[in-house]
Amino acid sequence: MAGAKLPELVILMILISSNVVQVISDVIPGLGVNWGTMASHPLMPDIVVNMLKDNGIKRVKLFDSDAWTVNALAGSGIEVMVGIPNNMLGRMASDLDHAKDWLKENVTKHLYDGGVDIRYVAVGNEPFLTSYNGSFTKTTLPALQNVQKAINDAGLGNKIKATVPLNADVYASGSDKPSDGDFRGDIKDLMIQLVKFLYQNKSPFVVNIYPFISLYQNPDFPVDFAFFDGGHKSVQDNNVSYSNVFDANYDTLVWTLKKAGLSDMKILVGEVGWPTDGNINGNPKTAQRFYDGLLKKLANNKGTPLRPGKLDVYLFGLLDEDQKSIAPGDFERHWGIFRYDGQPKFPMDLSGKGNDKMLIAAKGVAYMGKQWCVVKHDIKDLDGLAADIDYACSLSDCTSLQYGSSCNKLDRIGNYSYAFNMYFQMNDQDVEACDFKGNAEIVTYNVSRGSCLFPVQIVSSAQRVEFVYGVGRRRSILAGFVLLVIMFM
Ligand SMILES: *[C@@H]1O[C@H](CO)[C@@H](O)[C@H](O)[C@H]1NC(C)=O
Ligand SMILES: *[C@@H]1O[C@H](CO)[C@@H](O)[C@H](O)[C@H]1NC(C)=O
Ligand SMILES: *[C@@H]1O[C@H](CO)[C@@H](O)[C@H](O)[C@H]1NC(C)=O
Ligand SMILES: *[C@@H]1O[C@H](CO)[C@@H](O)[C@H](O)[C@H]1NC(C)=O
Ligand SMILES: *[C@@H]1O[C@H](CO)[C@@H](O)[C@H](O)[C@H]1NC(C)=O
Repeated sequence: MAGAKLPELVILMILISSNVVQVISDVIPGLGVNWGTMASHPLMPDIVVNMLKDNGIKRVKLFDSDAWTVNALAGSGIEVMVGIPNNMLGRMASDLDHAKDWLKENVTKHLYDGGVDIRYVAVGNEPFLTSYNGSFTKTTLPALQNVQKAINDAGLGNKIKATVPLNADVYASGSDKPSDGDFRGDIKDLMIQLVKFLYQNKSPFVVNIYPFISLYQNPDFPVDFAFFDGGHKSVQDNNVSYSNVFDANYDTLVWTLKKAGLSDMKILVGEVGWPTDGNINGNPKTAQRFYDGLLKKLANNKGTPLRPGKLDVYLFGLLDEDQKSIAPGDFERHWGIFRYDGQPKFPMDLSGKGNDKMLIAAKGVAYMGKQWCVVKHDIKDLDGLAADIDYACSLSDCTSLQYGSSCNKLDRIGNYSYAFNMYFQMNDQDVEACDFKGNAEIVTYNVSRGSCLFPVQIVSSAQRVEFVYGVGRRRSILAGFVLLVIMFM
């Protein structure tokens, strides 16, 4: 009898180990994600790094080189692109020594044995957006040249490449045909110098491509053309046909580079993704449709008509960021494939096989107490609250209330409660942040409704630092935090 059990055990063990192998090795090779940190309550960097590892993600792109974040990636085996923000371009451009200092403090320091696997430095982020009115056109190329020179002088030129992530608006096609593509007129000469410099240094062209924005900006845009499931009749370009805007956009760049004499230049897609809220076309269902198609395409190594084969892609983004500017649109705070707290939003299979499974959530996240701030149950004068709502929303995040968003169907009291709660959570559940002239109250039952989440904030990394040094007012939260830590041990 014992003999009969043994094979079962072996089978069980094989099942368990093959499951583990599946998680670690099945992810599309080279798939990366953008890890932005413009959140009021960012997750602890080590929690995020463990979440990346749990999901088998091996490449990450950052927007700065914050030492806490970069240090957390040490020994993880994850390839890293660090960033230099646009507001530092002037400094980098003005003096090679500034670039050398930056490199020493923000890159070289991390390159010890078992340190951080830094592969790229992103010099600026989309510096030639038309909305910047040319603010960075004079400094970007000299900054790139200085940073690459600093890298070369440090003997790292073969391992680390400097590049400039650019929005796809640096090129355009006069028609809908990729073969008419060329650099945007106002920056054409600059772009040609820039790509030639990148090419000489064997650095890639990094481009951000957003089918969602094409749809958002143009009411006549054919919806199916934004996705990859072939619902749209194809666009014909001589003998090549395009069934999705991603391929058409990418090949417009291929044509543009070809016209600059660089038909074999390496291209990385620095950002591509779909938001889940803040717009009528942004919800978990459409995001799932987009990523399903994108990941299957990447897994098949289909490439685009002009560049068949493997595509290098960084998804945008990892987590929702409630401090991003909403000037481009309310969707800006909802690009995460994970919520603000590291919970996955919709089924997503990073192997590209289209399995119906969820990503692995962040582990060890400490939440604040299970309490919400709402409009008082016996409120009489709702009209008198309008100014308070504007105030609460201006200092928190009410993008989920807007037209087409997840909480747009609430009644008026629901709307007001949502705004109160967002302000209360933003202020770390401070009782004074749930007053509103006596019109608000704290409740301990979950007031979320259907797909409209009334969030409970997490204990942010910034606050945890405060805990270490002891801040009296937050003692009760600290008690909860200690309890959670014990639970996870
Ligand atoms: C290193 O990077 C950080 C974060 O991006 C920045 O604040 C700092 O000024 C950089 N150090 C130098 C010497 O440039
Ligand atoms: C660009 O110009 C517009 C209009 O003159 C102005 O509203 C905007 O603030 C400017 N943006 C920047 C980044 O300078
Ligand atoms: C399209 O035609 C060109 C020559 O005009 C040829 O080189 C290319 O292979 C053709 N592409 C496809 C997809 O048939
Ligand atoms: C709730 O707020 C949103 C955003 O301000 C608004 O569009 C909607 O009409 C409001 N609903 C009610 C019932 O007041
Ligand atoms: C409240 O309920 C929603 C679903 O309606 C759920 O997603 C959320 O996690 C709940 N919050 C808490 C703190 O239990």
